[in-house]
Amino acid sequence: MHIKEQLEALRSATLRDIDQISDEQSLEELRIAVFGRKGALTNALKELGAVDPAERPVIGALANTVKQDLQAALDSKKQSFSVNTSVAAVHTDVTQPGKRQLLGTIHPIAQVIQEVKSVFSSLGFVHEEGPEVEWDYYNFEALNLPKHHPARDTQASFYFTEEMLLRTQTSPVQVRVMEKQEPPVRMYSIGKCYRRDYDLTHTPMFHQFEGLVIDKHITMSDLKGILTYAMRALFGEKTQVRFRPHHFPFTEPSIEPDVTCSICWGKGCRTCKYSGWVEMGGAGMVSPHVLRKVGYDPYALSGFAFGFGIERPVMIKYRLNDMRLLFENDIRFLQQFT
Ligand code: DAH
Repeated sequence: MHIKEQLEALRSATLRDIDQISDEQSLEELRIAVFGRKGALTNALKELGAVDPAERPVIGALANTVKQDLQAALDSKKQSFSVNTSVAAVHTDVTQPGKRQLLGTIHPIAQVIQEVKSVFSSLGFVHEEGPEVEWDYYNFEALNLPKHHPARDTQASFYFTEEMLLRTQTSPVQVRVMEKQEPPVRMYSIGKCYRRDYDLTHTPMFHQFEGLVIDKHITMSDLKGILTYAMRALFGEKTQVRFRPHHFPFTEPSIEPDVTCSICWGKGCRTCKYSGWVEMGGAGMVSPHVLRKVGYDPYALSGFAFGFGIERPVMIKYRLNDMRLLFENDIRFLQQFT
């Protein structure tokens, strides 16, 4: 066979062999059989010296391409093995420690908000929202707290202008809802409120939930019944609720509901300051002044309202001694609430 055909036959046969090889060792054996000291290509190249000098440049060039082609085919096959083996190693190393999936937890405030929502929606209360940046009118004025009223002092706030502030309570949502809808009303609202306070039991941002019922013939006993039911649903069946007389400018009469301390169940402990009771917020019969302001007829309609903090029940439920922990976003703290 002429050297030219010999080289071409060697190329096609070797390429076919490389193609069929499926393990690294056979590939190495093939490489030696072709490129080794006594390999087929090495032998063929040795014969180049015997080629007619006129033909030498052409045959020499061919020999070079054959060499390069085979080398390239061997290299790429070899590389395909190394990719496969590294992938295989990753998939089969069962001794590697597992990767821990970081699962988020629901913030304790959000958990209690969910519970409050489910209690009040099951009672047929409609969920309503109001803005956190509020007009002085809704936050105070329409709630029977005119500019000079001393009860404003208990709610030191953040003002943007004389007329616009961060709401200090969720009560303005009551006014907004009554303004936009005809009675009867049965709504609740939950959200952030802001006051200039910062200590163990106060943060400048906190949460309240608010409820309002307006209809014909609504009485104080409806208020007591709903609150007793809701407090038992939230804190447990054993919970007692008591109502102390109080004063709010937007309710008349006004009360403050207390619930049995669910840490000592009435025996007295540090959380309830040894009284057995925990203060929940404020409530009362909606003042005729407020009804009149939104265009409702106070002679035909009556209603009750209540507003409670969310942080207090959260602190009791999880026995926290510092409210600020809830908002520092320390993962070690938050991870404890699954
Ligand atoms: N908004 C009051 C506060 O933050 C709580 C309150 C009292 C809400 C009486 C009411 C209510 O709806 O009727 O102190």
